[in-house]
Amino acid sequence: MSGRVRELLRFHGNPPKEVYYDIENSGFVPKEVIDVMLPYFNSIGYGHPAITHKPGWEALEAIYEAKEALARTIGNVDPEEIIFTHSGTESNNLAILGYALRNRARRGKIVVSSIEHLSVVFPAQHASELLGFKAVLVPVDDNGLIDPEVFKAYVDRETVLVSIQLVNHEIGTIQRLRELVDIAKDVNPDIVFHTDAADAYGWVQVDVKKLNVDMMTISSHKIHGPRGVGALYVRSGIELESPLKGQLSVERLWPGVENIPLIAGFKKAVEITFNGFDSRIDYVRRLRDKLIKGITSTVPHTLVNGPLNEYRVANNANISFLFVEGEALTIELSLNGIYVSSGSACSSRVLEPSHVLLAIGRKHEEAHGSILFKLTRYHKEEDVDYTLEVLPKAVERLRAVSPWKP
Ligand SMILES: Cc1ncc(COP(=O)(O)O)c(C=O)c1O
Repeated sequence: MSGRVRELLRFHGNPPKEVYYDIENSGFVPKEVIDVMLPYFNSIGYGHPAITHKPGWEALEAIYEAKEALARTIGNVDPEEIIFTHSGTESNNLAILGYALRNRARRGKIVVSSIEHLSVVFPAQHASELLGFKAVLVPVDDNGLIDPEVFKAYVDRETVLVSIQLVNHEIGTIQRLRELVDIAKDVNPDIVFHTDAADAYGWVQVDVKKLNVDMMTISSHKIHGPRGVGALYVRSGIELESPLKGQLSVERLWPGVENIPLIAGFKKAVEITFNGFDSRIDYVRRLRDKLIKGITSTVPHTLVNGPLNEYRVANNANISFLFVEGEALTIELSLNGIYVSSGSACSSRVLEPSHVLLAIGRKHEEAHGSILFKLTRYHKEEDVDYTLEVLPKAVERLRAVSPWKP
């Protein structure tokens, strides 16, 4: 395997220009974040944060400062309500399985949307198969929005936990979350509402008090922080039992020693993200619109996945190129220095095409030809221009040899 990849990389070479759009799956960490992390490896806070000595206290202080920074950005919550995990996946597992384990005697219904990240869907199914809960998936419309009337039919007195993301990671739909929270809590005020905000954080307002949610997931690498660190907001009074067993450090619910350099880097990424929030979003939205318009006006047989109105998050462009295999297009673009991902089965190394695209009604072949671009503050206008120069030719080349024809 590794020999084959080495061979592949040798063949690939280094394209003269590179544009990275795959922030959905991870991205580079900017120097200013790395600079903050480095001292924590060997000069400050390298001790265990639960031990009583100077390097331990420095580590503890770094955790606390990062919690304070995060707490300010989600509605000035108590920093103690934030728990550091090692990823968004772990935060989602802690929220759902942690709730299910703590309430296993009560059981009941867990409601999640059909376009949730699999780190929400699978724990909900796991709670259903192993702990006696009943997991149900709420359908969405062709833009990925949940119809409040449909949602009402899914939430009842049996419902104990709801998990619905604020922004979809593939098609960028901004859910009308507060409306859904109100519906759920009207039916049963004891319902615990979790939102996976991994793709919302830094792009839409995520005030947990205004949203009235009880738990919220955040992931560092979605905002150009280091990967391998995530956070879960848990409102004071919500009780969880950790699905992870081991020696506790500072985090009462997440055993294992905390990774201080990554936590310090996460804090820096948070500060950068919230400095000039609105102007960054306007900038990225303009680039995104130029990219979508440029592609759909020059490449025939395309479909934009997700809403094309105020319900689309500013950084997301997801386009299906009909009569093209998404994986083939990611490779063709990579050879030209443009790095994207696809909702096609093979490139994402899963057996099925994207469940999100299928849930909004895309056919298998439409999902297979989809390409996801995520824009950030690091993109420049010339990156979009370069993409618009390269992409139509790449699609044309692939269509010329494709067995499917318009
Ligand atoms: C919406 C959403 N939730 C959770 C995750 C998982 O986060 P992590 O990659 O930090 O495990 C992702 C990552 O792609 C995501 O997009």
